[in-house]
Amino acid sequence: SLPVPNVQEMVRKEPLQVPGRYIRNQEERLQMDDMSHLSSPIPVIDLSLLSTGDVEELNKLDLACKEWGFFQTTLNPLNFLLVVNHGVAKEVLQTMKDAAAEFFALPLEERKKYKVASNDIQGYGQAYVVSEDQILDWSDALMLIVYPSHYRKLNFWPRTPRGFKEIIESFSNGVKEVGEELLRSFSRIMGMDKDALLGLHKQGAQGMRVNYYPTCSRPDLVLGLSPHSDSSTITILMQEDDTEGLQIKHNEEWVPVKPVQDALVVNVGDVIEIWSNGKYKSVEHRAVTNQKKARISHASFIIPHDDVEIEPLDHLVGSQKLIYQKVRYGDYLRSSMKRKMDGKAHTEMAKI
Ligand code: SIN
Ligand code: FE2
Repeated sequence: SLPVPNVQEMVRKEPLQVPGRYIRNQEERLQMDDMSHLSSPIPVIDLSLLSTGDVEELNKLDLACKEWGFFQTTLNPLNFLLVVNHGVAKEVLQTMKDAAAEFFALPLEERKKYKVASNDIQGYGQAYVVSEDQILDWSDALMLIVYPSHYRKLNFWPRTPRGFKEIIESFSNGVKEVGEELLRSFSRIMGMDKDALLGLHKQGAQGMRVNYYPTCSRPDLVLGLSPHSDSSTITILMQEDDTEGLQIKHNEEWVPVKPVQDALVVNVGDVIEIWSNGKYKSVEHRAVTNQKKARISHASFIIPHDDVEIEPLDHLVGSQKLIYQKVRYGDYLRSSMKRKMDGKAHTEMAKI
C-alpha cells in the first residue's frame, strides 16, 4: 500500500475541505442519491433455530433462495442476511463497540503506533492503495488477523484502551462461533453434510477490519468505502444501531441496509460464489458517509486456509456450464488485495 493521509485527522484540521483525491467521478456521483425510500430486502434469520437444525428455518433459507431463483441477476436473499439470536452476548458486542470508539478517539500520535506497513495488511491505516491516481476512500481502518492465533501480530493490537486485546478476543471468539454455525447451515442448504464446508476450509482463518468513517461536509462527492465484493467465504458485520452507511447493489440500485438492533449482517463472499458455481452471488457493496456523525463498523472475514483449492463443487455444477476454474485460495486472496478495490472484479479473474 502507498502512504495516504489519515482521513480522521484531515477532517479535524479542515472540516470543510474535500481534497481532489477523494472526489468520485461523475458516473459514481450520479449514483449517490438517497435510496432510503427503498425498503431493505434483507431477510432476518434466527440463528438459534438454524443451529437446532430446525427444518422450518432451513426451509426459510431454501425457499427464499428458490423464490428469487438463481437465474435472476438480482440479489439472492441468501447473499445478505441479518442474523438475530446469534448467541453472542449483548455486552460482548457493546464492549467491542466502546473500545473501538475509545481507540479512534485517541490522539493521532497514539494511533500511529499501530500503523500498517506498506507491505502488510495488519495494522492501522489504509490498505488497498495501489496507485497515486486512485480515488481514495473516506475512512481509516484497523486490520487484524485473529485466527489462527499464531498468525496474530500482537504489536498491531492496540494497548489502549486497557484490555482491548481481551475484548477483541472475546468478540472474535463469539463471531467465530456464529461463523461456524452459519457454515453448517450453508452446508445443509447446499445439499451436504453439515460439517462439509468447515472441512473444506481446512482450518481457515479469521480477520477483522474495524472501519472508521469520519463525517464529511460533502457526502455527495466521496465514498467511505469503494464498491467491492468480499474475497471471504462469509463476512459477519457488526454495525452501529443509529448510523447508516452500508449499501448493497440490488437491481442496479444502491440500497441502504438499515441497522437492526443487536443483529449481525452476514454476506456471502467470493468463495461461496465459486464453490456454488455462481448460484450464490457475492454481492457488491459500499459504504457512504454523512455530515452529522462519524460511523464505526466491524467486519469479520471467515476465510479458508491458503492452500485450499477453490473450485465449483461437482454436485452444484450438475449439468450446468462450469463458470470458475480452480484457484489456490492464498493466490486468489493476494491477487485480489493487489487490485484496487473496484467493483466486483475479483471473481471475474477466476472465471474460465
Ligand atoms: C465492509 O464492506 O467491510 C464494511 C462496510 C460497512 O462499513 O458497513
Ligand atoms: Fe465488504
